[in-house]
Amino acid sequence: MTAVLEVTGLRRHFAGLAAVDGVSFTVGPHEVVSIIGPNGSGKTTTLNLVTGAIPAHGGSIVLDGTRIDVADPARIAEHGIARTFQNGRVFAALSVADNVEVGLHTTLRAHRPFHRLSHLVGLRWVALLGELVVAVVGTPAARRERRAIDATVAAEIERFEARLGPRRDDPAYSLSYANRRRTEIARALAPRPKLLVLDEPTAGMNPSETAEVLGQLLELKAEGQAMLLVEHKLDLVMTVSDRVIVMDGGRIVAQGAPDEVRADPAVIEAYLGRRRVAAEERA
Ligand SMILES: Nc1ncnc2c1ncn2[C@@H]1O[C@H](COP(=O)(O)OP(=O)(O)OP(=O)(O)O)[C@@H](O)[C@H]1O
Ligand SMILES: [Mg+2]
Repeated sequence: MTAVLEVTGLRRHFAGLAAVDGVSFTVGPHEVVSIIGPNGSGKTTTLNLVTGAIPAHGGSIVLDGTRIDVADPARIAEHGIARTFQNGRVFAALSVADNVEVGLHTTLRAHRPFHRLSHLVGLRWVALLGELVVAVVGTPAARRERRAIDATVAAEIERFEARLGPRRDDPAYSLSYANRRRTEIARALAPRPKLLVLDEPTAGMNPSETAEVLGQLLELKAEGQAMLLVEHKLDLVMTVSDRVIVMDGGRIVAQGAPDEVRADPAVIEAYLGRRRVAAEERA
């Protein structure tokens, strides 16, 4: 079976620093793969490369059989990768529902009649004009699509019903931190991505909020959603992942099933060795 994601020899440097230094891995259908590693080991940079947020300096990224490292982020989103960000990103002035709807933009067809032209710099205005005309005039197809959008947004909010349901029409700036992150996850899930990429989805959450997100990730896993996850909370990683990749200094130092990785000397060194050195320096 073809992998959902196949990353080979990925490289990215910043000035002299090799942030990602020859990284190769796959995410299979329905698989949950996590990347762990100390601060600055290249986890977020790897996700930024996979989602096209920054260009790679080497290697290839193939999504569901299509090479995507040559495409821009909007194209990559259309191919079926959706993500959340380490620091959380929502549109503060938009409601929860509108934030979730934004996630559907790349999937719209009737509302974006000339969407293919939006990738051509000189003709982008034609695509935008087309969107404007459909928005003002409306067409039967656009009305059908509108109903489908509303149903999808409602279904994604339903996933977080107790939390987001009552806040559906509230602006995102008025939400708690945890609810902003839930909104961001709902937005990423709305287009039914082939691969969901999550960068520290529980960062800044307390243990009960973290447990709730873990429950939601397990539900997604049960639905067969392929995921690439970066997370520092190892209990969550070990519970939800099929495979764990350990990065240190821009390279993969270990990978395998959660239990194998937990016992791997390279992992213990990457985490505990560093702490031991720091403790010795303090002493
Ligand atoms: N835009 C950038 N410009 C310069 N250096 C960068 C940039 N982005 C990342 N780096 C550097 O690349 C290295 C890897 O950073 P990255 O953000 O990928 O680490 P990380 O594993 O996600 O760390 P954390 O666990 O703290 O989020 C770090 O040394 C970082 O300072
Ligand atoms: Mg990071």
